[in-house]
Amino acid sequence: MFDLNGRLALVTGAGQGIGAGIAKHLAGQGARVLVNDVVAEKAEASAAAIRDAGGNAEALPFDVTDREAVVAALASHELDIVINNAGNAGAQPMQPQPFREMDPARWDGPLEVNLYGVMNTTHAVLAGMCERGHGRLITIASGAGVIGLPIGVSPYGAGKGGAISFMRHMAIENAAFGVTANSLALGLMEMTEVHDEKLVASLSRSIPRGRMGTGDDIGPACIWLASDEANWVTGQTIHVNGGSLTT
Ligand SMILES: NC(=O)c1ccc[n+]([C@@H]2O[C@H](COP(=O)([O-])OP(=O)(O)OC[C@H]3O[C@@H](n4cnc5c(N)ncnc54)[C@H](O)[C@@H]3O)[C@@H](O)[C@H]2O)c1
Repeated sequence: MFDLNGRLALVTGAGQGIGAGIAKHLAGQGARVLVNDVVAEKAEASAAAIRDAGGNAEALPFDVTDREAVVAALASHELDIVINNAGNAGAQPMQPQPFREMDPARWDGPLEVNLYGVMNTTHAVLAGMCERGHGRLITIASGAGVIGLPIGVSPYGAGKGGAISFMRHMAIENAAFGVTANSLALGLMEMTEVHDEKLVASLSRSIPRGRMGTGDDIGPACIWLASDEANWVTGQTIHVNGGSLTT
C-alpha cells in the first residue's frame, strides 16, 4: 500500500523544515522528488541528503511567487504529485503584529507565498495532470487558515485560508480528470530557527499530544494523500496538529 514508485513529486520550500521532511518521506516511498527552494544551496543540500539515504531526488530551485520562473522550471516535468509547502512569510521572517497597527506593505509577503505561490505551481502543472488523467495537489496549510488566532498573523491566515478554499475549488473542477486536491492544516511545528527550550516546553504543554510536530508527522500524511489508495479523498482540509482545537 501507498507505493509511490514511478511517481514524480515536487515539494516546494523543501530546503529545510517540514518540506525537507516531506520530501524525505515521499522519496522513501519510492517517488522521484524534485526538491524546490528559493535558496538554491538549501535545495541542493536537501536533495543530496535524500540521495545519500538511497532516495531519488534532485534540486529544482525557483521562487514560487515568480510565475514566469515557476512555468519555466516546471515546463519539462510531468508531475504526478505537487506538495505546496513553501509558506510562512516567504523569504522574510514572520513579523507578528495586530492588523490595526500593520503597515499595508507587510500584507504582500504572506499573501504572495501562501496564496499566489500555490496558484502559480497549480496553474503550471494542472493541464498536464488532467491530460494524463492523474494528479495529486496537496497544500500545506495551517490552523491559522481555519480559525482566528490572537497572535498577529492575520495576512498569513488570509493566505492560508485562501489556499484552502482554492484547493476545494481545484478538487471540484478537476475531479473528473483524476486529479485530487487537499490541504493539511498543521498545528504548532518545531521551527528550524527557534532554540529556546523554555518556549518550546510552554508551547508543547498547550498541545494535547504534549509536543510540537515535525516533518516526520506530516510526511506520512502526504504519502497517504499522494497514493493511489487516497483516490476518493478530495476537497478536504485535514488537521494534523496533535489534537489542538480547531473550532
Ligand atoms: N512552523 C510552523 O509552526 C507551521 C505551522 C503551521 C503551518 N506551517 C506551514 O508549513 C510550511 C513549512 O513551514 P516551515 O516552518 O518548515 O518553513 P521554514 O520557513 O522553516 O522553511 C520554508 C522553506 O521555504 C523556502 N521558501 C520561502 N519562500 C519561498 C519561495 N517564495 N519559493 C520557494 N521556496 C521558498 C525557504 O527558503 C525555506 O527553506 C509552511 O507553508 C508553513 O506556513 C508551519
